[in-house]
Amino acid sequence: MPFVAAIRRAAIGAILALLATSALADDPGRAAIASPHQAATAAAQQVLQQGGNAFDAAVAISAALAVVEPYGSGLGGGGFFLLRESGDTPRYAFLDARERAPAAARADMYLKDGKVQPGLSINGPLAAAIPGLPQALADLAASHGRLPLKDSLAPAIRLANQGFAVDRIYRDRATMRLNALRDDAESARLFLAANEVPALGTVIRQPELAVTLQGLAVHGRDGFYRGPLARRLVDGVRQAGGIWTLDDLAGYRTAWREPLRYPLAEQRELISSPPPSAGGIALAQSLAMLQRLPWQSAEPVQRSHYVIEVLRRAYRDRGLLGDPDYVGNPINRLLARHYLTGLADSIDVRQATPSSALPPSPAWREGDHTTHFSVIDAQGNAVSATLSVNLPFGAAFSVPGTGLVLNNEMDDFAADPGGSNSYGLAGSQANAVAAGKRPLSSMSPTFIESPGQFASFGTPGGSRIPSMVLLSVMGFLEGRPVAEWPATPRYHHQYLPDVVEHEPGTFSARQKTELEERGYRLRDVGRQYGNQQVLYWDKAGGTMEAASDPRGVGQATVVD
Ligand code: DON
Repeated sequence: MPFVAAIRRAAIGAILALLATSALADDPGRAAIASPHQAATAAAQQVLQQGGNAFDAAVAISAALAVVEPYGSGLGGGGFFLLRESGDTPRYAFLDARERAPAAARADMYLKDGKVQPGLSINGPLAAAIPGLPQALADLAASHGRLPLKDSLAPAIRLANQGFAVDRIYRDRATMRLNALRDDAESARLFLAANEVPALGTVIRQPELAVTLQGLAVHGRDGFYRGPLARRLVDGVRQAGGIWTLDDLAGYRTAWREPLRYPLAEQRELISSPPPSAGGIALAQSLAMLQRLPWQSAEPVQRSHYVIEVLRRAYRDRGLLGDPDYVGNPINRLLARHYLTGLADSIDVRQATPSSALPPSPAWREGDHTTHFSVIDAQGNAVSATLSVNLPFGAAFSVPGTGLVLNNEMDDFAADPGGSNSYGLAGSQANAVAAGKRPLSSMSPTFIESPGQFASFGTPGGSRIPSMVLLSVMGFLEGRPVAEWPATPRYHHQYLPDVVEHEPGTFSARQKTELEERGYRLRDVGRQYGNQQVLYWDKAGGTMEAASDPRGVGQATVVD
């Protein structure tokens, strides 16, 4: 008997040990935050200290960014949240809080005599789709949070009342949109100083935004989408020539979608954004093609060659994609092994393939400014979120009395299915404007996970988002230090226009000549772009790291 008891005890001990290791394996024991603004990182720390989890922290960061980066995202915009729920087998979820076209929107609303009126989808109330972020914050708190919404919103409300100091990024974005901001009296009052870009250190207070946030804190989604604020928004938009109705606001819904998942080598898995983002598919296609190419051992020019050709092919297929509630997205076919093998095999390893020489995407039909952050809590719950109002300061149209600057996400639709948008992205029927529809996006919050590793990626940057995330992921795959992932010099190709865009200094003079000899047309975009916020949890080694893009003023921190 003692022998059997000993065996039983040993068996129970082994099971307990196993449970402990598996619990350990999904429990980093410390949290990490990477956000584009110190005030947002501080808001997350505060909420975590109060007992909140990564999802509460994501609400706090999103709301704080809505205050301190009015050019990047906000309650007048939308975004995507990629979630990881910790557990022996982690679960992933995707909250689509993309803006939706108002019911009166029509495919030809930006055309006059068959020609696109470019300003209309960019500045002013006709450019604004129905915001999704307020609903997303209420959803996240209710479905995944530990704290009430009002606790997670408290730091942002305080920031809006007390104000924040203008930094170089604010000045840069306001300079880009100065004329549009001046054209709208309320935007000029809120975001400029005597009609000029405010000086460094100027304190921007937003008491009306504090009241709007407070309404959301007290009444949840109805505090935004119904009642006095909704009436104010609709009145303000319509008086300025817009088409929003109370029903558009009351009828807005976020959507929970299955994340895009794609297996990679070495037991890794890509977990990224499904449509209405085109980004996850582009990343999966790019990584699948790269896996067939010796990029890791290639010298720099040859490596860039591979990356450019892979991007060219992945971006070509973007034209097939649109809001999954409106069009069939041929995801399985786009990610089928034989299809991607064919694409990879079509790459000439010495010479550029002109985009015009690639056949058009198969006709499968079935049925700069934005923000990003990543946060993980000590239990292993994580959020990677990219939020947007589209161009800096969105439509540069603010609704009087609400503190809200509205998005110009309508420009992400194909105003002219045969033309291109402000990122030069080719239009398509799948992404034509329609009532209630979500415009196609490039936003790509992304995880890569394996039994021993977890990493989180994402950035603003319009059509260049997937290429930036790809370069960062390549740094991860190569085992480079985490700080280098977001720092990597950037280059980009998006099929059309057929040109390699790059940051100043990405390529040496000799590398440029070599690339040109291979048939590439290069274009220095004259500025740095993107603002990545990444996390890395080495589950096997038990370490946690976070990094913020050196191009921005963000703050990454690990919290014990
Ligand atoms: O959803 C999209 O793809 C765009 N509205 C994102 C815009 C953006 O990232 C601008 N940031 N630089």
